[in-house]
Amino acid sequence: YRIDKGNHRHFMAKEIHEQPEVVGRTLSHYVDLANGRVALPEPLPFDFATLSRLSITACGTAYYAGLVARYWFESLARLPVEIDVASEARYREAPLERDGLTLVISQSGETADTLASLRYAKAQGQHTLCVVNVPTSTIARESSAVLPTLAGPEIGVASTKAFSCQLTVLLCLAIHAGRARGVLSAERERALIDALITVPGLMAEALTREAEIEVLAREVSKARDVLYLGRGTSYPMALEGALKLKEISYIHAEGYAAGELKHGPIALIDESVPVIVIAPHDAVFEKTVSNMQEVAARGGRIVLIGDAKGAAEHGLDTLATVTMPALDATVAPIVYAVPIQQLAYHTAVFMGKDVDQPRNLAKSVTVE
Ligand code: G6P
Repeated sequence: YRIDKGNHRHFMAKEIHEQPEVVGRTLSHYVDLANGRVALPEPLPFDFATLSRLSITACGTAYYAGLVARYWFESLARLPVEIDVASEARYREAPLERDGLTLVISQSGETADTLASLRYAKAQGQHTLCVVNVPTSTIARESSAVLPTLAGPEIGVASTKAFSCQLTVLLCLAIHAGRARGVLSAERERALIDALITVPGLMAEALTREAEIEVLAREVSKARDVLYLGRGTSYPMALEGALKLKEISYIHAEGYAAGELKHGPIALIDESVPVIVIAPHDAVFEKTVSNMQEVAARGGRIVLIGDAKGAAEHGLDTLATVTMPALDATVAPIVYAVPIQQLAYHTAVFMGKDVDQPRNLAKSVTVE
């Protein structure tokens, strides 16, 4: 594996652009194409059918991948999920059922809090499953089962390709769990696989919006505060968008569930605060539209990241629309990771920040 920037200015840019390839590689590790179903690389030492709930823990971007996965496990596998950041999970003294399952997610496999949460779960008699990018890591060694992401080495401090690969593995796992629990039909599974295999191509298409995003990034770079909104799986994507922006551009950004807008953040809306709305055309799209109308009515400047269908139908008054390809809404988070990352990246580059080595941050936080 060559570790250089290739033709890119930064590792982060290279890693963003690698995503169609590494997500494709990860998918081919988890999908039996001939039969249109998920096939995990190894049998798991527990059965999803007997679980009464799933506990997920992680830090940073990996935690947001877990938050997205919660929607998938609950809707596709009807499996209740509890999720917490590892720095809290390790000290909460949460009662965990013997023979239950804890899932940890980590790019490096070395994050101190995530490792401590894993050990806590083991001490409670839980099975442990990890989604990691470094298969030789401590977390991989100490888990009862390992699901690797095949993102290759990630050098940029802010996680990008590891995140989209984590989402890919987690969606495959939720499909597997849905089948094991008898709640996901073979037809639905096949439809989801059909959607999943289009993802690398859709990500490549999303990457072609880069010039538009660069223009937008100039606007965003003038802001002191930025608000990200989304519903459903786009809510954790809003959190991830805000995290990426603050990590590398140092602009204050907050992610919010769009429905919570009226419980606080609407007080901040004026023309100086860009509002980035992540809204694929999904089951909750109409609800997000009414939130956008509330923002527009208060002079807010909306940047919509959505598909053409959604935006055109409502004649929304936006500062800009980043048009994503039409897709099956279940896979939207994986594809929408691209514009979210690019917006943060170009904003930071435009501001002259060191995107690969942001101040005060470490790639892997191995001490508490
Ligand atoms: C640091 C990195 C983040 C990463 C987080 C968790 O904060 O800067 O990009 O998401 O750690 O790391 P892990 O290796 O456990 O995924």
